[in-house]
Amino acid sequence: MIPAQVIQRKRDGHGLTEAEIRDFILGFTRGEIPDYQMSALAMAVCFQGMTGEETMSLTRAMVESGETIQWNRGAPGGRALPFLADKHSTGGIGDKTSLILAPLMAAIGLRVPMVSGRGLGPTGGTLDKLESIPGYRTNLSLREVAELTDRVGCVITGQTAELAPADKKLYALRDVTATVSCLPLIVASIMSKKLAENVDGLVLDVKWGTGAFMKTRADSLALARAMVEVGQRYGKKVVALQTDMNQPLGRCIGNALEVRECLDILTGKLTSGDLLDVTLALGNEMLALAGVKVDLRATLASGAAWQKFCEMVVAQGGNPAAPLLVAKYLKPIPATKSGFVREIACDQFGYAVIALGGGRQKASDTIDFCVGFTDPKQRGDRVRAGEPLAVMHYNDAGKAAVAEQLVQQAYVIGDAPPPVLPLIVERIG
Ligand code: URA
Repeated sequence: MIPAQVIQRKRDGHGLTEAEIRDFILGFTRGEIPDYQMSALAMAVCFQGMTGEETMSLTRAMVESGETIQWNRGAPGGRALPFLADKHSTGGIGDKTSLILAPLMAAIGLRVPMVSGRGLGPTGGTLDKLESIPGYRTNLSLREVAELTDRVGCVITGQTAELAPADKKLYALRDVTATVSCLPLIVASIMSKKLAENVDGLVLDVKWGTGAFMKTRADSLALARAMVEVGQRYGKKVVALQTDMNQPLGRCIGNALEVRECLDILTGKLTSGDLLDVTLALGNEMLALAGVKVDLRATLASGAAWQKFCEMVVAQGGNPAAPLLVAKYLKPIPATKSGFVREIACDQFGYAVIALGGGRQKASDTIDFCVGFTDPKQRGDRVRAGEPLAVMHYNDAGKAAVAEQLVQQAYVIGDAPPPVLPLIVERIG
């Protein structure tokens, strides 16, 4: 395989063979193919696309660039290990379903080894949220992931160096070569990490809208279909829900605030709302993949999911009884005019959290876990000028001034309510 020839063939719109893709990716992972050739191929893929077959080969090569988790499927006494499942969300503002879903599924008896990410652009990351719990470790080794999943029923941790290392290297290159927003590269990136977990079933939450990676319904549907196709061709049970991200999910945005909202659901203090609706929809899909029928609301009400959450936190070094950090100051952000909320540039809430110090502007930044927003007005809500659009939680007045402006600019207020958008748009798979 001559790398320049592979790049040239893709540049000219020809298909690549499985062997060409595998050798290129494995050569890149080992450092034999330099970054400039990998970047050139990534750009050629952006222009020419990939067939389903090629996307599958790329995903497989990225899985094979590292290790997969080896589960001890034959448990003592000849019992088979319970169904292993995971969920992936393409991310959004206030999207915190993982923190509820993993312990909820574990409480029912599924095993959930959830490998999650940090904030990406304006969207918050599950790992950053969990690290607002004092002591919580998100750097479990693969051996610990397998052991704790078996013992507790769920873990939520970060990607290890062994899982799909080609993706880690390629993603860093894509980030600086304008090749992130390319469907086959996104599919292979997301699916390789999930397939390396070696689970039986995967539920995908593919979001669309102003707070999502995919801004249109059509783009997010194409992504959902492509990911489901790869997963199914890999022999896994996979289903995707396309969900709305044109307004923040839930009532809290920001790391510790979002953990608090999840605890309210897990402890039964909060029993309704869009966050719970999406979480239950994803949970029911996971149960269907596992062939299990359980009333998820009853499981939540029993306290079993809360118990599992505490077990998981303790197993990962955290203290579930430790109080969550709170910000020094609260400020309602006033609406500048009266009317109905017609649109929310939802990603602006994410940038506002970053401006407050609750996300990273560069990889080395530390996070102020307690800042963020609560009770954001949602699409269709009626507001009067001066009424709060959201409540800001902050520690630094200078940063707060920037964040306040971002939130005010995010709201489009008009004379009539906007059309209602479905929370769960479509099921794919
Ligand atoms: N998330 C990923 O893990 N990879 C991408 O390419 C995009 C989003």
